[in-house]
This record gives sequence, structure tokens and C-alpha cells, in this order.
Amino acid sequence: KARLHTKKMGHSIIYKKEVTSTQEVAHELARNGAEEGTVVVAETQQKGKGRLNREWHSPSGTGLWFSLILRPDVIPQKAPQLTLLTAVAVTEGIMEATGIQAQIKWPNDILIDDKKTAGILTEMQSEPDRVQAVIIGIGLNINQQAEHFPAELLTKATSLALENDGTTFQRADVISAILKRIEQWYFHFLQYGFKEIRKRWESLAVTIGKEITAVTMTKTVSGLAEGITEDGVLLLKKQDGTTEYIYSADID
Ligand code: BTN
Repeated sequence: KARLHTKKMGHSIIYKKEVTSTQEVAHELARNGAEEGTVVVAETQQKGKGRLNREWHSPSGTGLWFSLILRPDVIPQKAPQLTLLTAVAVTEGIMEATGIQAQIKWPNDILIDDKKTAGILTEMQSEPDRVQAVIIGIGLNINQQAEHFPAELLTKATSLALENDGTTFQRADVISAILKRIEQWYFHFLQYGFKEIRKRWESLAVTIGKEITAVTMTKTVSGLAEGITEDGVLLLKKQDGTTEYIYSADID
């Protein structure tokens, strides 16, 4: 707590040595009325969840695995904006705490030197027209060394320490910087909306302005990534001049 520089985020921190997933714990707390800003951190997760039903590897002691409860008074359709907000905040928090340059890969992977170092998973509890809670899960590789990664992942994944000649970081400093940025952007979002955040997201994104290939559930589309919409949908301009809206995909 001494290191926190926030009014709300992380003022209630639930620390667990071992959980199935911090998302599950946070969902349960949110259903029981936990206040906005509550954070659940675990040393290790047995069944860390990634996007698209993937597994998230969460070894003990080396990374930050945490979930944050927010209660914005918005319609459910606005929730994806909070994922993009979080991507901006995590990227800025990493850069502030470590001095390492980080970027966003659409929709919300955080890359250093083109390798993934963090991921974000947003889930929601809502009524048809009102959000009750948004559970934002953040997984960040911090102090893993090369031998901690399966060989086939080393070309695709990294940690802050690996990008810092193996020198490790204090996890508390990193989470504190991230929570500070989330809080700043979240208060901004509630007061002024998404416009500035979208601009900031686009300026931090590797994806924008590049020729990319998006592999969706049903097809593969190539084109120029032009930007994102208000809702975080990726705009892909194809060779024939038409624009494709990409809602969910893997990007190469
Ligand atoms: C992704 O890139 O696929 C998102 C990964 C999100 C992982 C974090 S770790 C903390 C929280 N608890 C989970 O089970 N998942 C998220």
C-alpha cells in the first residue's frame, strides 16, 4: 500500500498465494458487492484464462497475475472501450516503471521488441442495459528468464527482465505504475469519454498503418490497418479499396 499512488484502484487488495484464476475470484467478489477498484492478485494460477478460451501460463513468483473490478455506469456495449483503455494504461505503466519501450498489438496484447509481454482479458457482469461490474484481468511477464519459457514460445513471448539484460524488477513498482495509469484514464473516460483514449491507443499501437493479415473464425483477410472505431473494431483497407471491419482475429 505504501507504494500506491491512487485514490481508488487497489485500495482493497486481495492477495492469494494460489487460485484457479484471479478472474474467478474477482467475479465472485463482484457478485457479492465488492467495491470498484478492488484488485485480486495471485502468486500463481492453476488455470489462468487467456482470450479466446486459451490457457494463460502463470508460474509462481515471476509475473503479475491480477484482476481489477470496475463499476462504470455505462451500457454493456461500452465495455470493450475499457479493454483498450487498459491496454494504454498497461503500456504506459510498463514504460514508466521500467523505461522500456512497449507497444500495443490489436486488440490488446502488449509487446516489447515485437514479443508479447502482457495480455488483457475483460469480462462483464451486466443487465441488458447496464453494466454491473467489469472484471479486467491482466497478465504480465516480469521476471522470467529465458529458461522459464517453453522453447517454442521464446520467439513470440518475453518478460520485462529478458528485455532488460536479465535484470529483474520489483513487481510492486510495476503494478503501482499500472494502477495509477488505469485510474487516470478511467476517471478521464468517465468524465470525457473515449476520444482521447482512442487517439492514445492508436499512437501506441504497432498494428496501425501497417499491412497485416487478420485470421478470423471464418476467413483470412489482408490489408492496411487504418485505425480502430469507437468500439475498438479494427478497420482493414483491402486491395480493392473496400474496408473490412475486424471484430475478433489473430493478427500476423
Ligand atoms: C490474453 O492475452 O489472452 C489475456 C491474458 C490474461 C491473463 C490474466 S492473468 C490474471 C487474470 N486471470 C486470468 O485467469 N486471466 C487474466
